Amino acid sequence: MEGWVARWYTRTRGHDLASFRAEARRVAKDLPAGAQVLEVAPGPGFFALALAQMGAFTVTGLDLSRTFVEIASQAAADAGTPVEFQCGNASAMPFADARFDFVYCSAAFKNFGTPVAALDEMHRVLKPGGRASIVDLRNDVSMDEIDAYVDASGRGRFDAWFTRLTFRHMLIKRAYSKDQFAALVAESRFGTCRIRTDGIGLDVQLTKDAARSAAA
Ligand SMILES: C[S@@+](CC[C@H](N)C(=O)[O-])C[C@H]1O[C@@H](n2cnc3c(N)ncnc32)[C@H](O)[C@@H]1O
Repeated sequence: MEGWVARWYTRTRGHDLASFRAEARRVAKDLPAGAQVLEVAPGPGFFALALAQMGAFTVTGLDLSRTFVEIASQAAADAGTPVEFQCGNASAMPFADARFDFVYCSAAFKNFGTPVAALDEMHRVLKPGGRASIVDLRNDVSMDEIDAYVDASGRGRFDAWFTRLTFRHMLIKRAYSKDQFAALVAESRFGTCRIRTDGIGLDVQLTKDAARSAAA
């Protein structure tokens, strides 16, 4: 997403600030002080900024879109919140091995062209024992559930219509089922995961096995 599409997305997702903050609170309570956190594909950076404001965490964002990196970096500067947003691909991350304690990725994984490579990169940049959390749309979501989600978000008429359109014609088609996700993880260096259905999405929890990493 670049240019006006990224700017439209930023505006419309601005309606979901309360849920970004609630999600950041949920994640923050399981992180140790000083944790190094990577958000993969943060887009406008709403979650990354909320998380950085909730504790002594060092938060980094990595996104393919130059427009989003500019928007998120400007938002960080405006808020006086030190989050570094970088341009880069989830499947070839510009980070050293074992740098992060926690990797987070939301509403983006279904768009990755090489999903197993992206999982392997998350595994590589995590410290042994580190965790990753991937939250994304589930492919068996109904349009009634999407309607309820959009209605509850408080979007205006045009944004609500356009949001529904993108779900119906693009996003649901790209989304994974629980079984498809588990199969991707099985192909990756993580090997296993825990998957929970959460509203319109899946919540996938992954851990980099400290014992296997030491043996490798
Ligand atoms: C729908 S937006 C989600 C943004 C944010 N996570 C949120 O919840 O608002 C999808 C994001 O994935 C990013 N993206 C898509 N493919 C990517 C890739 N291969 N590597 C990194 N980012 C990618 C896009 O640039 C965009 O910012």
